[in-house]
Amino acid sequence: MKKIFIPLFAAAVCALSATASTPVYLDDTRSIDERVEDALSRMTVKEKVAMLHAQSKFSSAGVPRLGIPEFWTTDGPHGIRPEVLWDEWNQAHWTNDSCVAFPALTCLAATWNPDIAMLYGKSIGEEARYRGKDILLGPGVNIYRTPLNGRNFEYMGEDPYLASKMVVPYIKGVQSNGVAACVKHYALNNHEVNRHTTNVIIDDRTLHEIYLPAFKAAVKDGGTWSIMGSYNLYKDQHGCHNQYLLNDILKGEWGFDGVVVSDWGGTHDTAEAITNGLDMEFGSWTNGLSNGASNAYDNYYLANPYLSLIEQGKVGTKELDDKVRRILRLAFRTNMDRNRPYGSICSPEHIEAARTIGEEGIVLLKNSGKVLPINPKTVRRVAVVGENALKMMTVGGGSSSLKVKYELSPLDGIRHKFGPDVEVVYARGYVGDPTGEYNGVVTGQNLKDDRSADELIAEAVDVAANADCVIFVGGLNKSAHQDCEDSDRTALELPYGQDDVIRALARANRNLVVVNISGNAVAMPWVNDVPAILQAWYLGTESGNAIANVITGTVNPSGKLPMTFPVKLDDVGAHSLGLYPGTPRNDGSKIVDCKYDEGIFVGYRWADRNKVKPLFPFGHGLSYTDFKYGKAKVDKSSIGTSGKLTLTIPVTNTGDREGSEVVQLYISDLKSSLPRPVKELKGFKKVKLAPSETAEISFEIDRDALSYFDPSLHAWVCEPGSFEALVGTSSADIRSKVRFEVSDTLADNK
Ligand code: BGC
Repeated sequence: MKKIFIPLFAAAVCALSATASTPVYLDDTRSIDERVEDALSRMTVKEKVAMLHAQSKFSSAGVPRLGIPEFWTTDGPHGIRPEVLWDEWNQAHWTNDSCVAFPALTCLAATWNPDIAMLYGKSIGEEARYRGKDILLGPGVNIYRTPLNGRNFEYMGEDPYLASKMVVPYIKGVQSNGVAACVKHYALNNHEVNRHTTNVIIDDRTLHEIYLPAFKAAVKDGGTWSIMGSYNLYKDQHGCHNQYLLNDILKGEWGFDGVVVSDWGGTHDTAEAITNGLDMEFGSWTNGLSNGASNAYDNYYLANPYLSLIEQGKVGTKELDDKVRRILRLAFRTNMDRNRPYGSICSPEHIEAARTIGEEGIVLLKNSGKVLPINPKTVRRVAVVGENALKMMTVGGGSSSLKVKYELSPLDGIRHKFGPDVEVVYARGYVGDPTGEYNGVVTGQNLKDDRSADELIAEAVDVAANADCVIFVGGLNKSAHQDCEDSDRTALELPYGQDDVIRALARANRNLVVVNISGNAVAMPWVNDVPAILQAWYLGTESGNAIANVITGTVNPSGKLPMTFPVKLDDVGAHSLGLYPGTPRNDGSKIVDCKYDEGIFVGYRWADRNKVKPLFPFGHGLSYTDFKYGKAKVDKSSIGTSGKLTLTIPVTNTGDREGSEVVQLYISDLKSSLPRPVKELKGFKKVKLAPSETAEISFEIDRDALSYFDPSLHAWVCEPGSFEALVGTSSADIRSKVRFEVSDTLADNK
């Protein structure tokens, strides 16, 4: 066959208008599958292997001879990471790579609003596209199993249903830009300590009911074009080349047609990488596959070692072609799609999106005596206390660290919002971590303070006692052992003596608002002494404005917790059973086995089953208005398993201001062959209501909401019997219940 040679630019020109001589792979009137096969047929084995591994820290090769561009990846998931040097983690000091930092994914999950997830995905996708990126390394949907996990802030909470509903629009939004989402970290990467050596031991039912649904939704409903394997092991194989997770489930059962990308340095073995589902290898640091060496890309497990196995006839090219097909498909979806939009960066729309997401995700945990909102016209002096009122939070935390166009601090947001007629006085209160640098990006803040804890508290109390109200802004930060990749927290308690500061402030002034900035639950032993508490997450660029708008009531809070806040660590299954972080094997292998023996009872499922009262339950979040729930009704009292019923419930805003409520539907299976959680989230709707307005909220209930995963059948099973639909404003505040029957059994493998 005659080979057609088309250099890069000629290829681009050709693509503008297909003619009879246009090669099929450049003709975008053809299907992607036809184009893939055509391109594949033109490639040499060497060119194919070159596509399977990195050529720099964040890029991989295309096929220059055919005009197929290289791929550029970027973290993810809260903003577009600054450019780094070719073979370094350190930033390259470009001057045009600052981004908008969107709120952390925990905050997005706390909005319980899929439209907001779409806005998030679309906006961050535009930034990625503008910066010339083809793959966005995010979003993350690992389930929140322990509040100590240093990376929970990058994920979407403890509930598989909520995470599934929120991840899908994020992916669609990103991919509408011709940029691939790369959903991570698949799977079972639920804590950071020993992240490369933890081998998760989990039963099939728990795997399918708790830890896989959000990934499955990302693939089947979100249509994600790529997915990132995880560092940890499952069944003694690393997540990045795992027969069970990648071949059997992801590519087999779910029919994933995209690319499996390794986590950076998550590849460990050429043979497994060839056969066990990995398509693209990144971040290995390898010299002869043993030690570190710079620019060692040809030594990657899927580079020369693979090529020489093929050349020696030791392995065939079936797997190679499958991997390259997937990568070519990705190219036609992204960098070879000449119709993809150009993107934009730091636009007013993105800044507004960042603020809106933050405002919708802030959770009002407590508001006794209606201390909040604070009307700036009714105060003359406001005390702001706490390091997090000024500390930049977009630098640090690991790979999600950013270089931002700007980050408005809570203190500046409050000052701006209260205006020139109100005196805002600041006191530090405590010293946490005054440093601020990540991979060469510096905050430029000088937060050093050598005063003792007593001196700092005395100053804060003095300022508080002489103010009309006090806003304490504390919590965690992005330093190691806080909310930070590659380490876990060491305790549920707030660090740096903050509990003492808060108690002292509560004694000094009754009008105290605590704003907790974290991506994780924290213990609040002072909860009864403090009238108002806001959970504010990491909110990025517009942090200060979002917080100030909620504090002053410009925005009525409507976020709900995507995770349970336990009173103490022992109230969490993994800790109560002593399972975290696992047990090292005594065989010299460095492997740490971590048993997920709490099974499906994660988060509120554990609290419900063991009747543990949380500090704040999953789904909890107050408003400045009140909502009254009427009686839930179903249109049929009995259905077959292939049927559906509709539940309706009126919800009324009984307060005097507009507000949004997240109406939550939980299902309880009253009798079943296998133990089931007391209830499980199976629907939610966020509705905005004017004062006195009533909305009739409806939910469809079908077998998806009723089934459990039966490991013996390897199928989702819906059993006959009685069920209860519970509608509430949180998992612990159910306002109405209705019973219905299911008349026959159905098992299916969908
Ligand atoms: C993280 C990934 C990240 C990658 C590239 C890894 O250490 O686990 O989430 O995308 O680095 O920065």
